[in-house]
Amino acid sequence: MQIFAHRGFSLQYPENTMTAFRKALEAGADGIELDARLTLDGKIVVMHDPSVDRTTNGKGKVRDLTFAEILGLDAGIKKGIVFENEPVPVLEQVFDELGGKLLLNVELCNYEEGDNRQLANMAVELIEKYKLVDSVIISSFRFNNLVYVKDKNPNISCGLLAKQGLLGMFARNLLNHSVSVDALHPFYTDVNAKLVHREQECGRKVRAWTVNDPKDIRTLYDLGVDAIFTDDPLNSREFYASEKLLE
Ligand code: G3P
Repeated sequence: MQIFAHRGFSLQYPENTMTAFRKALEAGADGIELDARLTLDGKIVVMHDPSVDRTTNGKGKVRDLTFAEILGLDAGIKKGIVFENEPVPVLEQVFDELGGKLLLNVELCNYEEGDNRQLANMAVELIEKYKLVDSVIISSFRFNNLVYVKDKNPNISCGLLAKQGLLGMFARNLLNHSVSVDALHPFYTDVNAKLVHREQECGRKVRAWTVNDPKDIRTLYDLGVDAIFTDDPLNSREFYASEKLLE
């Protein structure tokens, strides 16, 4: 069961920053999960929230700020003074430095916009530019983003995110009718033996988010889940070693 560091090693380091990604690699994660959004002037930056308010010293929506304005923000200070002056990464920087070193799960987060292909198209172009078709996974709660990625490059692996509980019921069952997506990414408490069996029978992987408690990790392992997203890849790695779990 592979370990993906959720927004990098986000338990200990500022989420979605190069430091969090480098520390995830050091901790032995198989991959990192990160969030991609477009700036006002059409550059892909790495940020989870629609606004910069929670994780940086700035204010405003990512989509209303220019790339230059976002580069001027501090994405570390809110996590602690020791992380001061940590910049918001651009996706290209992540690909350039970490591409090929571990798996990169890029979540396309254009949820506040109308349905459009811009983010998906640009992400595919970057993946191709850095020759990372085999080591980048695109995920999104928005199914159409995955359709656009597959349309542009069917060899890029795509995972559909399903929201927790009832809200995710449609997404968890949607893939029964679609052969184009490679994985389902459900909330971890929605995973059961039937779901894992059904998805894997159809050749799709199951990657569960976001799980930090070793008890839950063990349950998902026993269910045969393919990967977990966790905020603490080091603790997960240590738990694997102590329980002699296989990747
Ligand atoms: O992709 C993993 C799942 O946790 C969703 O990620 O960053 O939107 O919370 P995020």
